[in-house]
Amino acid sequence: MEIVLATKNLHKIREFREMFKGVKGLEILSLSQFPHYQPPPETGATFAENAELKALHAACALNCLVIADDSGLVVPALNGRPGVNSRRYAGEESTDAENRKKLMQEIKLLDEGARSAYFECCLSLATPQGIKKTVSAKVEGTLITEELGSDGFGYDPLFIKLDYDKTFAQIGKVKDRVSHRRKAVEKLLPTLEAIISA
Ligand code: IMP
Repeated sequence: MEIVLATKNLHKIREFREMFKGVKGLEILSLSQFPHYQPPPETGATFAENAELKALHAACALNCLVIADDSGLVVPALNGRPGVNSRRYAGEESTDAENRKKLMQEIKLLDEGARSAYFECCLSLATPQGIKKTVSAKVEGTLITEELGSDGFGYDPLFIKLDYDKTFAQIGKVKDRVSHRRKAVEKLLPTLEAIISA
């Protein structure tokens, strides 16, 4: 069965491909294969709202089974920022490096004890008939003020997971086994496998 990942983010696509490797009968496509498709604006106030609006919009427009991911970094001491604005934190068209730079400037002003943060990943599975399942998962950690590591994407070089001593950008494929995205995928799998085997 074909499933479309409603994203053009090559890092997310790579991570999902790795995580769905063991699922039999699944052919994974992404929005890179649908260059004419225009995703909707991400107007939701929460990760879940954005994941659902992206999933349903793509499922109806492409007439297929879709998984959408809305995710980001939440820093409680910054009132939850960057949060749902993680991708466009330093501006609508900002790069990951620009977003990290803005965040680093802000966390340098925080006490070390206030640099806790978590990644959240919300996944929504939809068909053209509607949303089948939406799940969410988090990983807690702390932020550092200088980038370390070159793997991964986004805020990975600034984030050290609880009980680790390296950033997500330094642990290579270990991230795929312990990340917020992996935990969310595990919650979604039973529903996905039921649809595939129906
Ligand atoms: P989205 O594409 O609207 O869901 O925005 C996702 C943004 O959140 C990314 O561009 C990154 O800035 C951040 N983000 C989400 N997941 C991760 C991750 O696994 N590592 C690092 N940054 C992430």
